[in-house]
Amino acid sequence: MAQYDIADRSAIVTGGASGIGAAIAERLAAEGWRVVVSDLKRSAAEETAARIGGGACAFAADVADESQVAALVDFAVRECGRLGAMVNNAGIGEDPSPIDEMKAEHWNRIIGVNLTGAFFGTKHAARVMKAAGRGGVIVNMASVLGLVGFKAAPAYTAAKHGLIGFTKAAALELAAAGIRVVAVSPAFIRTPLIAGLEEQVMPLHPIGRQGEPREVASLVEYLVSEEAGFLTGATYLVDGGYTAQ
Ligand SMILES: NC(=O)c1ccc[n+]([C@@H]2O[C@H](COP(=O)([O-])OP(=O)(O)OC[C@H]3O[C@@H](n4cnc5c(N)ncnc54)[C@H](O)[C@@H]3O)[C@@H](O)[C@H]2O)c1
Repeated sequence: MAQYDIADRSAIVTGGASGIGAAIAERLAAEGWRVVVSDLKRSAAEETAARIGGGACAFAADVADESQVAALVDFAVRECGRLGAMVNNAGIGEDPSPIDEMKAEHWNRIIGVNLTGAFFGTKHAARVMKAAGRGGVIVNMASVLGLVGFKAAPAYTAAKHGLIGFTKAAALELAAAGIRVVAVSPAFIRTPLIAGLEEQVMPLHPIGRQGEPREVASLVEYLVSEEAGFLTGATYLVDGGYTAQ
C-alpha cells in the first residue's frame, strides 16, 4: 500500500483495458487508489476492473469525443471520490502509409486519439481538480516517438511530439492550482499495440529486449505519488536505452 494519503481519491486510466493502461490500473489499485478503468471497449474495461479489484470500476468512453471524456470525469468524481490522478493513456498505432498518399481522415484520427484525447482528459481533469481546490496529477502517455522520428509513423510521431509540448504548457499553467502535469515516454513495450513487430523493434533497444507494461506502470505510480511532488512539465523515459544512441 502507498505510504502517502490517497483516502477517497480516485484515479482515471484511459485505455485501461489493455497493455500499459491495464498494468497502470492494476498497480494503482494495489497501492490503494480507487481506479476508474476507462476504455473504448466496455466489456474489456469491465473485465479489467473486476480482475484488479480494490473497488475499481469501469466506464466506456472514446477519448476523442469531448462529451464522453467530460462524462467520464464526472462519473469518477461522483462514484469514486475526488479526482487525484488522470492518466491519459489511450492511444492507437499507425498503419504505414506513405505521406504523399495519406488520407486526411487517417491523420485526423491518429491526432484525435493520441493528442486531442489527452487535451480533453487534461481539460476536464483540471476542471474538477481546480474546483476541489486540492491539486492533482495528470500523466500523459507519450512515447520515445515524441522525442525522435520513426519512419512510417508520421502522424503518430507528430501526435506524441505534440503531447510532450502540450504537457510542458499545461504544467506551467496548472502549477498555480497545485496540479502537476508530466509525460511518460516508453520505447517498445510488449502489448497488443505492437503485436507482430517484435523482431523488428527488439534490436532498437540496447538493453536487448522490449519493455514490459509493469515497467511503465511502476514509473507512473511513482509520478502520481507525493514522493514526486517536485516533478512537473517533463517527460520521463522508460526506453531500455533507445534514445541514448
Ligand atoms: N506498446 C508500446 O510499445 C508503446 C510505446 C510507447 C507508447 N505507447 C503508448 O502507450 C499507450 C498504451 O498503449 P498500449 O501499448 O498499452 O496499447 P494497447 O493497444 O494494448 O491498449 C490501448 C487501449 O486503448 C484503447 N483505446 C484505443 N482507442 C481509444 C479511444 N479512442 N478511447 C478510449 N480508449 C481507446 C484500446 O481499446 C486499448 O484497450 C498508448 O498511448 C501508446 O501510444 C505504447
